[in-house]
Amino acid sequence: MLSDQHIAILGAGNMGRALLGGLLRGNDVAPDQVRVTRRDSAALEMLRSEFPGLTTTTDNAEAAKGADIVILAVKPQVVQEVIDDIRDHLSENTLVVSILAGITTESLRDALGQDIPVVRAMPNTPAIVDEGATAIAGGRYAEDIHVNQAKAIFEAVGTVEVLPEHMMDAVTGLSGSGPAYVYMIIEALTDGGVKMGLPRPQAARLAAQTVYGASRLVLETGRHPAILRDEVTTPGGTAIAAVADLESHGLRTMLINAVATATKRSEELSQLNKT
Ligand SMILES: NC(=O)c1ccc[n+]([C@@H]2O[C@H](COP(=O)([O-])OP(=O)(O)OC[C@H]3O[C@@H](n4cnc5c(N)ncnc54)[C@H](OP(=O)(O)O)[C@@H]3O)[C@@H](O)[C@H]2O)c1
Repeated sequence: MLSDQHIAILGAGNMGRALLGGLLRGNDVAPDQVRVTRRDSAALEMLRSEFPGLTTTTDNAEAAKGADIVILAVKPQVVQEVIDDIRDHLSENTLVVSILAGITTESLRDALGQDIPVVRAMPNTPAIVDEGATAIAGGRYAEDIHVNQAKAIFEAVGTVEVLPEHMMDAVTGLSGSGPAYVYMIIEALTDGGVKMGLPRPQAARLAAQTVYGASRLVLETGRHPAILRDEVTTPGGTAIAAVADLESHGLRTMLINAVATATKRSEELSQLNKT
């Protein structure tokens, strides 16, 4: 899918670098197929030493020229200047993949001034360790091949769901912002262990691995979380006593509301981006 594609990653910060690492480590592309930009030359030099054969430049136009796929991985505040850099160097066949939160494919098309395929993606930070959860949506001119190419890019750093673009705010509320909720859960579980006498480093590892292991069990068995939960709640036992406590404090309602609140905030920010 990507083996003959030339890819420009514009803005190799946290997410851009994660994509680069995933694509190269998984041998989805060779280093000489990728050009990477950011403004900091020293940071680019470090990327070249980490990934020998990689081409880096501070010049977005030079990176985008002749690329089959251009990934926009800068912050939304600077996207206009990056688009100004590359606009004249894209062809109608160039696939533009954007990970910019809250920026629609239509507004990117308008900014690019061309009817070219755009795919919008919402990854999350676990992509840094190849465990990302990404949703992608094709814009008006994106065909199946473009969506599939974008899917292949994000599959290099985790799992991918293809969804209609109007669902991107909900994705932002769930998986985009979700790592923050899970870190709070891990931190609180750790504190619970410490409260009950466990040393903090061991408690932290036990808490994080418990969340990771439980997640893997859900994903790998495909079983409903409620069934898996029932299996660990022995009648009259410890887990059901704690589950009753969590229910009385409305844990599930809290998390449902958290996703809804973040979704609404994403909608508000998307509106601001339009003005
Ligand atoms: N982090 C998340 O959880 C997350 C999740 C989903 C989507 N996103 C989206 O991902 C994008 C990147 O986020 P991030 O967390 O990776 O940010 P980041 O670490 O700040 O990366 C952005 C990079 O863009 C570079 N940059 C700035 N101006 C540039 C320019 N004119 N030309 C080329 N490169 C330029 C910066 O490097 P220099 O300063 O060296 O130029 C920086 O390394 C954002 O649009 C965000 O909405 C992030």
